[in-house]
Amino acid sequence: TATTPSLRTARTTRVVAHRGASHEHPEHTLEAYRKAIADGADALECDVRLTRDGRLVCVHDRTVERTSDGRGVVSAMTYEELCAFDFGGWKGEEHRGARVLLFEDLLKEALAADRPVGLAVETKHPTRAGGRLEAELVRLLKEYGLADGADGRVEVMSFSRNALTRLHRLAPGLPAVYLVERAVRPPRPPFAGHAGPGIDLVRRDPGLVGRLRAKGLRVRVWTVDEPEDVELCVRLGVETIITNRPRQVREQLEAM
Ligand code: G3P
Ligand code: CA
Repeated sequence: TATTPSLRTARTTRVVAHRGASHEHPEHTLEAYRKAIADGADALECDVRLTRDGRLVCVHDRTVERTSDGRGVVSAMTYEELCAFDFGGWKGEEHRGARVLLFEDLLKEALAADRPVGLAVETKHPTRAGGRLEAELVRLLKEYGLADGADGRVEVMSFSRNALTRLHRLAPGLPAVYLVERAVRPPRPPFAGHAGPGIDLVRRDPGLVGRLRAKGLRVRVWTVDEPEDVELCVRLGVETIITNRPRQVREQLEAM
C-alpha cells in the first residue's frame, strides 16, 4: 500500500539530538545531552572547536557571547579561561551552573549510557586551526577505540570539504557527512557516503533527497523540529533526522 514505505521509514529513522535536547536545555551542556539520552536519541550532535591550549570543546559559535555570560573568541582562550563562564544561565535561571563541555567528557557520557548512543561530531573553524582540530579529534577517538568506524558509533560532519578530506586521511573508516546549506547539487566527495542538507533546502526542493539517494548517498536532514517537517522527511525516506527536540520527534515517529 501507499503507507508501507513511510511506516517502514518511520520505524527505522535515526534521531540525532542537535546540541543535545537543546530546545529546552542550554545547548552543548551535559544537562542537555543527558536529557537527550533519556529522551531516546540514537546519537548526540555536537560542534567542536579548539581552545588556545589545544583542548576540544563543544561550542557552536566562534565566540561565547550567545551561550554564556562571558566574552571572547573560543580559539583565543584557554580551557581554564572558558571554565570561568556560565554556559547555562542564558537559557533560564534554573540552568545556571553549566560549564563549558569538553568533547572528551561528552564522549565519556555517551559511552556510559545504558544503551549504545552515537556521536555526530561537526568540526567548526576548519581553516584557522589548520588541521590541528581534526588531528586532536582523531587522537581522542583513537584513545577510546572509536576511530575505525567499525561499530558505526561515531560519524564526523562538516560544511568544509577540506576538513572532511583531512579527517578521511587520518581515519578512513569513519563515516563522513558532507553538510549542505545552499547548493542544490553538492559536489560528492569521493569518500563521503552521506549528505546532510538543511530542512530549508529540503522544503524548497524535496526532490533533492531522491537525487542524493540515487547517487548512493545516505541522507540526514537538520534541524527538523516541526511535525510537518518530520512527516516530510519520513515521506522522502530520509535515514536520519537531526533535531533540537528528540523526545517529540521520537514520539511522532513511534505514532506513525
Ligand atoms: O547538524 C548539522 C547542523 O548542526 C549544521 O548547522 O549551524 O547548527 O552547526 P549548525
Ligand atoms: Ca552543528
